[in-house]
Amino acid sequence: MASVFYRDPGHDYPVAVRGEGVYVYDADGKQYLDGSGGAAVTCLGHGHPDVIGAIKSQVDQLAYAHTAFFTNEPQEKLAARLAERFGEAGARVYFLSGGSEANETAIKLARQYWLAKGCPDKHIVISREQSYHGNTLGALSLSGNPMRRDIFAPCLHDWPRIEPCYAYRHQQDDETDDEYGERAAQALDDAINEHGADNIAAFVAETVVGATLGAAPPVGPYMKRIREICDRYDVLLILDEVMAGLNPTEVDELIALLRDVNQQGVSIFLIEHVMRGVMALSTRVIVINYGVKIAEGSPAEVVKDKQVIEAYLGKEFLSAQG
Ligand SMILES: Cc1ncc(COP(=O)(O)O)c(C=O)c1O
Repeated sequence: MASVFYRDPGHDYPVAVRGEGVYVYDADGKQYLDGSGGAAVTCLGHGHPDVIGAIKSQVDQLAYAHTAFFTNEPQEKLAARLAERFGEAGARVYFLSGGSEANETAIKLARQYWLAKGCPDKHIVISREQSYHGNTLGALSLSGNPMRRDIFAPCLHDWPRIEPCYAYRHQQDDETDDEYGERAAQALDDAINEHGADNIAAFVAETVVGATLGAAPPVGPYMKRIREICDRYDVLLILDEVMAGLNPTEVDELIALLRDVNQQGVSIFLIEHVMRGVMALSTRVIVINYGVKIAEGSPAEVVKDKQVIEAYLGKEFLSAQG
């Protein structure tokens, strides 16, 4: 173990040896409730027979085929399922292995898109403060989390960032949701004008901000205005759904919003973690709010629980972590 470059060399990490459902067990047999799926990134729990069966049967059949040379049936099927859900004629899905890589690719796709359209100056990607789009240099350039980016700042693109839509901090007492949503979106309009639409390739935002704001949803007309502004100035809209993800129960609502948001222009929609897929597979769920259990039951029961709704959902809830 001493050869491992640990995240924190001073920390004494327990050895995780096994998982079962929502629990992880260490070498001493101690049980840990894996409430948010690690860094809120896994959703299928540990050891579900359906998941194991699917992985095993695929590996039995074919372990790897490079996508530069082959396509494969599972990717075709999943892409078709996702594209159908989005209801977008000609929608395409590009599979990657993580959120940072997805955002890097979105930056590059945006650049290639504008080159192909004969607009070589369009290269800047505007993002938002208090955002997190990943740890690689391109994705970190988009990220507005000072703690994560500051020491790497000289290596990053110095692209403009606007304030996030974050009602808790930025909505004024005398401002309605509609007024605040409009004002927050106006910041994008201002930034595009300041830096010149001819230079702006894309705007990227987390639809529901995850890692660095704690599941903050857009307010009032914010997303619709953002879409309109992007269309007005010929700017691509990249929605980083890594943290919000998709889940079987709320996916239709989320997709309806995105379809609405996407009606006009081209968007790049990143999905990584199917966060609450666990809901479909679990028979029993425990909901913990600030360390206190507030509900327990089947997924169908807990999502209707009043305390859960008040604690987590709020009227504009679309999808959040675990
Ligand atoms: C919104 C968002 N984008 C990107 C990432 C980066 O994903 P990854 O850690 O898989 O590279 C994360 C990770 O938490 C994220 O929350």
